[in-house]
Amino acid sequence: MIHVQHLTKDYEGFIAVRDVTFDVSEGDIFGFIGPNGAGKTTTIRMLATLIEPTDGAATIGGLSVIDDPDAVRRTIGYMPDYYGVYDGITVEEYLDFFAAAYDIPRRQRRPTIGDVMDLCDLGNLRHKLVEGLSKGMKQRLCLAKTLVHDPKVLILDEPAAGLDPRARIELRALLKELSSMGKTILISSHILTELSDICNTVGIIERGEILATGLVTEISNKLSERSETRGVKIVVLANAAEAEAILTGEGEVVAVHREGRELHVAYQGDDKTVPRLVRRLVMGEIDVCGVTEEREDLETIFMKVTTGQVA
Ligand SMILES: Nc1ncnc2c1ncn2[C@@H]1O[C@H](COP(=O)(O)OP(=O)(O)OP(=O)(O)O)[C@@H](O)[C@H]1O
Ligand SMILES: [Mg+2]
Repeated sequence: MIHVQHLTKDYEGFIAVRDVTFDVSEGDIFGFIGPNGAGKTTTIRMLATLIEPTDGAATIGGLSVIDDPDAVRRTIGYMPDYYGVYDGITVEEYLDFFAAAYDIPRRQRRPTIGDVMDLCDLGNLRHKLVEGLSKGMKQRLCLAKTLVHDPKVLILDEPAAGLDPRARIELRALLKELSSMGKTILISSHILTELSDICNTVGIIERGEILATGLVTEISNKLSERSETRGVKIVVLANAAEAEAILTGEGEVVAVHREGRELHVAYQGDDKTVPRLVRRLVMGEIDVCGVTEEREDLETIFMKVTTGQVA
């Protein structure tokens, strides 16, 4: 649905985005993750047809952001990282203004606005002045605004920034609902935990370059293959201290952390290491009742992939 190829943005000699390539399939929630200054907003603004790429190409729903910007704008709902709201108008008038701007016929506008207000939980605020809304309410209003023309694709630049924990949870629920309605969503953030439970795919960007992209599970696999140290949790029926001593004596084992009957083992080895360790335990008369690979969460992956250096 979103197809980005070798996208590059050069700001008079400063390359903010370099050779960025990724794909977002229909119905995906794609987390676009990177530290401050990584190039997220620059990439997103190119996708939203607000700035022109220096090089490369991108299509949304098959439409080129360079050759067909008007059609792209009708296909997407774009929520910028900073936005102004206008003084002296109410929530309902604000949404009506944007619905009119999208050429939604007058008769259809009222039900459409009613729908998006319901979806974004703005019903009670319909007569409130926009300038009097709190940050979280404004955020919901801005999201509602991106939905009035029923776009297939949502491009949201840090929609959760500045929200309190409850508002974040509500936003996540709303995004899940929008996804279940068949929308494709690209959402940027530098806070990983915010996205880890709703995104199925991610792209990690730093200093203008994509460092990893793909399914969350795939990236995790790739990284644990690449990184020297892997983890496994071994649960034993009894004699955990003895099991710990056996494991610690094994050459490939880097560290063992014992918690009750659970042993968290960090090792350097290959796919045969774990079976070998289990065999050693069994030969030592230890009853092994569970072996689980210790998967890394998105946060750990992020810390591993990025060096934290931003130009
Ligand atoms: N108009 C511009 N002219 C020159 N440099 C720019 C311009 N816009 C952005 N940059 C630079 O491009 C780099 C990427 O900025 P961008 O806003 O895309 O980062 P970001 O990932 O969105 O960061 P944040 O998490 O802080 O929003 C930064 O170094 C920034 O200073
Ligand atoms: Mg940004």
